[in-house]
Amino acid sequence: MKELRDRVAIVTGAASGIGLALSRRFAAEGMRVVLADVEEDALEAARRELVDGGAETIAVRTDVSQVDQVSALAEATLDAFGKAHVLCNNAGVFAAGASWQAPLSDFEWVFGVNVWGVLHGIRSFVPIMLEQNEPAHIVNTASMAGVTRAPLVSAYYMSKHAVVSLSETLYLELEDGPIGVSMLCPEVINTRIGRSERNRPPHLKRGEEEEPTSTLVESSLAEAIHQGLDPSVMADRVVNGIRDDQLYILSEEGGAWREVCNARLDDIRLARNPSGPVIAATN
Ligand SMILES: NC(=O)c1ccc[n+]([C@@H]2O[C@H](COP(=O)([O-])OP(=O)(O)OC[C@H]3O[C@@H](n4cnc5c(N)ncnc54)[C@H](O)[C@@H]3O)[C@@H](O)[C@H]2O)c1
Repeated sequence: MKELRDRVAIVTGAASGIGLALSRRFAAEGMRVVLADVEEDALEAARRELVDGGAETIAVRTDVSQVDQVSALAEATLDAFGKAHVLCNNAGVFAAGASWQAPLSDFEWVFGVNVWGVLHGIRSFVPIMLEQNEPAHIVNTASMAGVTRAPLVSAYYMSKHAVVSLSETLYLELEDGPIGVSMLCPEVINTRIGRSERNRPPHLKRGEEEEPTSTLVESSLAEAIHQGLDPSVMADRVVNGIRDDQLYILSEEGGAWREVCNARLDDIRLARNPSGPVIAATN
């Protein structure tokens, strides 16, 4: 998809971090932007910012883990702008902990947002895009976590590996049509993901007894994140990836994350047990 001006972009997780950077960039490209997020105040602040900058924008409070809310997002998009061209399934949350100790509610929450959220987006918008039969593009935010391995982060890593697989499958399913597919695999980006708990629904909260490994890993992520790249770097990569029809939008070539990814691929190719570098306990 080459032409973005006047086209309609939908971004989930648009109120913060990478989603906000994508939304700003799409507005700067002259697109009409639908902002979706579960966090109402931050969503309204993002909407106001874009409208003040002259963009045609609507905000739709959406919990992406809920299929009805994502269907309603698609309806609101068509009601406002009549079309849907670029969908960024970007909303995501992080939780850590040993696979056998982290509470099942961690897995339920992380999978609800990171995996089901992406699937609901695809199932709500792909039929609209196919019917439209105009150039369109879907960008799923995975992570370098989705192409690497690390201990103590199974819920998050499993969810991102699932997004990688879903994106590759979707690419092959849609290869001959008007819809391009990309998966964005950020390295460490300076966002609020280390404070994901703010959006955890009450029925999936952890119990009184905190799991010490989870807390340790999550607080080290929250600290490390400040050294991360500015989210606007992701917006540049995504816009280039859409225009170049690039499935894999990975971290910088030659960087530590790519090394870990390559080591893993070599291990699989050679049927060798994990060796080489690991980036532990971050995403
Ligand atoms: N920051 C990083 O280092 C990094 C690295 C790799 C991948 N990612 C991925 O990037 C994406 C964006 O995260 P970010 O880093 O910008 O974090 P962020 O916390 O700054 O932004 C995530 C947004 O998603 C929203 N959200 C959370 N649960 C939601 C739900 N159920 N429905 C709708 N919106 C919801 C939050 O309110 C927030 O606005 C995520 O998928 C994350 O996994 C981030």
